Amino acid sequence: MSAEQLETVLAETRSFPPSDDFVNAAHIGGMDAYKKKYQESIENPEKFWGDVAEELHWFKKWDTVLDDSNKPFYKWFDGGKTNICYNCVDRHLDGANANKAAIIWEGEHGEERVLTFRDLYREICKFSNALKSIGVKKGDRIAIYLPMVPELAIAVLSCARIGAVHSVIFAGFSSESIKDRVLDSECNIVITSDGGSRRGKILPLKKIVDEAVADCDCVKNVVVVKCSSGAEPYPCDFNEKRDLWYHDIVKDQPVHCPAEELDAEDMLFLLYTSGTTGKPKGIIHTTGGYMVYTYLTSKYVFDLKPEDVYWCTADVGWITGHSYIVYGPLQNAATVLMYEGAPNFPDEGRFWEIVEKYAVSIFYTAPTAIRAFMKWGDEFPEKRDLSSLRLLGSVGEPINPEAWMWYRDKIGGNRCPIVDTWWQTETGGILITPLPGVTPTKPGSATLPFFGIDAAVIDEDGKEQQAGLLSVRKPWPGILRGIYGDPERFKETYWCKWKGEYYFPGDGARKDDDGYFWIVGRVDDVVNVSGHRIGTAELESIYVEHPAVAESAVIGIPHEIKGQGLASFVILRKGFEGSDELLKELNNLVAQKIGKFALPEKIVFSSDLPKTRSGKIMRRLLRDIATGKDLGNVTTLADPSIVESLKSKYQDN
Ligand code: WTA
Repeated sequence: MSAEQLETVLAETRSFPPSDDFVNAAHIGGMDAYKKKYQESIENPEKFWGDVAEELHWFKKWDTVLDDSNKPFYKWFDGGKTNICYNCVDRHLDGANANKAAIIWEGEHGEERVLTFRDLYREICKFSNALKSIGVKKGDRIAIYLPMVPELAIAVLSCARIGAVHSVIFAGFSSESIKDRVLDSECNIVITSDGGSRRGKILPLKKIVDEAVADCDCVKNVVVVKCSSGAEPYPCDFNEKRDLWYHDIVKDQPVHCPAEELDAEDMLFLLYTSGTTGKPKGIIHTTGGYMVYTYLTSKYVFDLKPEDVYWCTADVGWITGHSYIVYGPLQNAATVLMYEGAPNFPDEGRFWEIVEKYAVSIFYTAPTAIRAFMKWGDEFPEKRDLSSLRLLGSVGEPINPEAWMWYRDKIGGNRCPIVDTWWQTETGGILITPLPGVTPTKPGSATLPFFGIDAAVIDEDGKEQQAGLLSVRKPWPGILRGIYGDPERFKETYWCKWKGEYYFPGDGARKDDDGYFWIVGRVDDVVNVSGHRIGTAELESIYVEHPAVAESAVIGIPHEIKGQGLASFVILRKGFEGSDELLKELNNLVAQKIGKFALPEKIVFSSDLPKTRSGKIMRRLLRDIATGKDLGNVTTLADPSIVESLKSKYQDN
């Protein structure tokens, strides 16, 4: 967010309290109830989280709720034995929920599938048995590269059931990205599909995986889900020695498979995310704490009730899908809607058609999507009956007040509370958020901390300030437990800033007089493009692989729909000239190494970049050039004239 945007946000005085009806029916109703519970959770977190954990199934109770003897390697519910898949599915089979819809799936071409909790249980058990039959054991790492089909949830839950560690890779990543992730954690199985459907086109997922695993000796088998339903078969190669059809290996499997009794601190999954270096980090989440945290946040933030139809539009390839499509809602026995395709296929009204068709009551999406809906026009939501909606959510990036107001009015009919939820891959679940039956909301603010979250805005010295760095003082059950294979980087990235006393998320924030948090955006070299985290260093290290490139600097720039986009400044080696051809080559390289979603808005070729006399690229200045700001005094630069030439090049581009 730019300084100007921030000022507008801070001038925001509108406030929207929840209706009396909502307050009266909510799990947590009214500010007094929130304050009392919040205080208890901060004063005695072990009692608070111990009581929450009691609501779930444990094979053996824990010895300690929180073990902080080896900071920052916290342990939650140590000594306890449980299984998150059991809590998502088996726990609901005894009563009325057994035949309740767990997953309602709609494909892009209107295909429909409904899995009750009992169906889901059987599918998971069969696939768990199939995985065991091909030699998968507890602790093995399994990569999952699937479109948004029910088998994605089934695969994730099956891994959890047998204690294998899943590493889901978003299906927009390239084969090189898959390869890096598979090799980093030595996955022995990759689960993919023959293809997927996106805006009427076929995503050749199997082909991308074939390229990725050609160089991965650790991969023994590729399991292939057949997603095409016949009308238009997805073509794919099949390697008889390595590849297995999903439907073949589940066919004769028994419909029961015991859920493994796992230690609370057994690794549940890895999810790779971008950081400030060229190499993505494998974020580690473990079983017990993540389970308890996603259970409780889902229940209270989305105020889940048995009759709800809950739709989170994220992809399971990102943390939002892990925590708030699969694990959190299913632990609460919620009916979860999953949609495979694009929001603008066959037209821009698809989401509202789906809301009407399934009477969706809770809708959770990203600001970038909301801004796209605004641009597409009010006529699309206006055409549909959206009266089933009772609660709206937002996640992934700061939401601008204009988009917030549009969302409230055009989608929520000025009746639904909006929960703007701030959190990260690393936090496992939502940390700062309104509670829908409690918090008067202000457009653009994530408002107040969730139970057990001791958040503060502080400066580099750890002093509380109105504006500064966001920090969290106490650990919570869902916190990441490490970076795969790199404990030092874990300590450095998140715990070094304030001598290990606070968790550092990498975001800037402000706090207003009501104690509300306003998240400003990243303060490190990570850019949030349409809510997807991209490390600028990742792109920079890709560019220099090209023989024409000597050096580069990538920055985040404001973008009307995406929130932020990328701009790349590229210094060419002697003898090379910037051209459309070169631009294409650099874009191809990024698409090939990361994926198309990481392409920059602009590439500016230059013979030099603004540097200090000690040779450091001044990114702040590049950002000012990109936003057309007055550049002020540039005399400390090694070569001040470079700025003017970059400015005109940027504008011409
Ligand atoms: C940003 C996504 C403002 C933030 C769940 C964070 C937000 C990064 C919000 C994490 C929000 C997420 N308001 N900013 N409600 N939610 N962010 O790991 O910069 O993909 O650090 O997790 O997204 O992105 P990640």
